[in-house]
Amino acid sequence: MKDTHTILNEIIVAAKECGQVMLQADRNNFGIKDKAGKANFVTAYDCKIQEMLQIKLAQILPEAEFLGEEEDCRINREAEYIFVVDPIDGTTNFIKDYHMSCVSIGLIRNGKRYLGVVHNPYLDETFSAISGEGAYMNGNAIHVSSDDLENGVVLFGSSPYNTELAKASFELAYEYFQKCLDIRRSGSAALDLCSIASGRAELYFELILSPWDFAAGALIVEEAGGIVTTVEGDTLLCLEKSSVLARNK
Ligand code: IPD
Ligand code: CA
Ligand code: CA
Repeated sequence: MKDTHTILNEIIVAAKECGQVMLQADRNNFGIKDKAGKANFVTAYDCKIQEMLQIKLAQILPEAEFLGEEEDCRINREAEYIFVVDPIDGTTNFIKDYHMSCVSIGLIRNGKRYLGVVHNPYLDETFSAISGEGAYMNGNAIHVSSDDLENGVVLFGSSPYNTELAKASFELAYEYFQKCLDIRRSGSAALDLCSIASGRAELYFELILSPWDFAAGALIVEEAGGIVTTVEGDTLLCLEKSSVLARNK
């Protein structure tokens, strides 16, 4: 069995190769298709990167199960290791060439967040964490900020595929807006979590996310000294859809 740092480094190499595929994507051949819900698209590149990761991660850790956004993968939820992967988080941004998308790879071990890598190829920023060993960006330690909400920036996701949550999302954003410096909406939940981890913003919430949106980012926030729960304040489970609230303290 390889040591965890070797596994992490190999995952980072794989994430960067996928990032290159995003950067070199042929914008005339995106092969955009609709998925369930409003404004929920998948491109040929989401599928291609997921396929790449399925192969590469199986080489890195053959005993691990693989759960990815773009295929209905039946996994053994009791397995020791489970990869939870979003090949492109921020697909609408990717389609729009908005340069705010990433590859997100989480690894669950014995039901707990164990390792996470989020790579943003546009800024060449790679966020990573191993449980109990801190969080890093391009190899440098990162920490949540110590600013209070009054001097903080609040990020939120609008749960675009669940329009029934839109009113509540924007009402909560308005509540926070009145208490903080300003609000942002990036279009990538994984990058929002990394922004909390690296002290660029103080609080992030979204009323519904899938496990692949937060598998890596939640660990990165926790390892950077932040707190991640559901919006109600409950424990954030690894393999369930959930609301997410991440904050510096
Ligand atoms: C979406 C993004 C977005 C968030 C959505 C996610 P996708 O992921 O993270 O910021 O608001 O809830 O589903 O579909 O681009 O992988
Ligand atoms: Ca996603
Ligand atoms: Ca995605």
